[in-house]
Amino acid sequence: MGHFLSPELVDHICKPYQRAGKFAWHFARGKLKRDPVFMHILQAGYISPYTRILDIGCGQGLLAAMLCGMDDYTYRYSEKKAEIKAASVTGIELMLNDVIRARQALQVFGSRIQIIHGDMRNIDFGSADVVVILDVLHYVPSNEQNDILKRVYACLSSGGTLLLRVGDAAAGLPFLFSKWVDTVVFAFRGHVSIRVYCRSLAEWKEQLEKIGFRVTAIPMHQGTPFANILLHCHRP
Ligand SMILES: C[S@@+](CC[C@H](N)C(=O)[O-])C[C@H]1O[C@@H](n2cnc3c(N)ncnc32)[C@H](O)[C@@H]1O
Repeated sequence: MGHFLSPELVDHICKPYQRAGKFAWHFARGKLKRDPVFMHILQAGYISPYTRILDIGCGQGLLAAMLCGMDDYTYRYSEKKAEIKAASVTGIELMLNDVIRARQALQVFGSRIQIIHGDMRNIDFGSADVVVILDVLHYVPSNEQNDILKRVYACLSSGGTLLLRVGDAAAGLPFLFSKWVDTVVFAFRGHVSIRVYCRSLAEWKEQLEKIGFRVTAIPMHQGTPFANILLHCHRP
């Protein structure tokens, strides 16, 4: 089984982004084709029926597009399709441009997807069954990361899951390369601050376990030069 979504599936998921402009469409295609985390989330069975998903730092809403875009698509993991169909997704995003692109594209899914313009440091997380934070937390200082993780724990239902992707600061060259790419992309996207706050995998695990999560680390950089790790964090 491959690490990436098939070209047909990428085409299908990205179709709604045509209404949000060329940049949104090309960006969505590039990311969905090359980032192994999307295929992993589909395959791993994290999303059960009626799951309420909160995607913090959702960018232009690719995760929501993928989960809701599966509905009318018959593909070889069809047994997962029915489960994913029942999901609702709330995205929180700081950058207004991303929020606008996400809303333009994802309006086709109606009220199942809600994109909120806000800052994860102070916005109410409501309640959720699965919280997803992909490549976002390192943009705020460690004390604020800890506070966000505690609020995520509190917003999850018992038995809920946090899927947190981070870079492993102890990973040497791949980590330095990830960090360099990240700061360039971040500046390109119009952010004022390009400082990032990273930790080793051991430090991330220690902090998450201190909050109360049970943590499993899954390498999530297949086919890329990065040092990304997906932390599957179970809230007992
Ligand atoms: C590297 S992108 C990842 C986007 C998305 N999670 C994905 O995987 O496609 C990081 C995102 O986090 C957002 N972000 C950064 N700081 C944030 C904050 N304080 N509150 C909400 N979103 C934030 C950025 O604007 C950007 O869209």
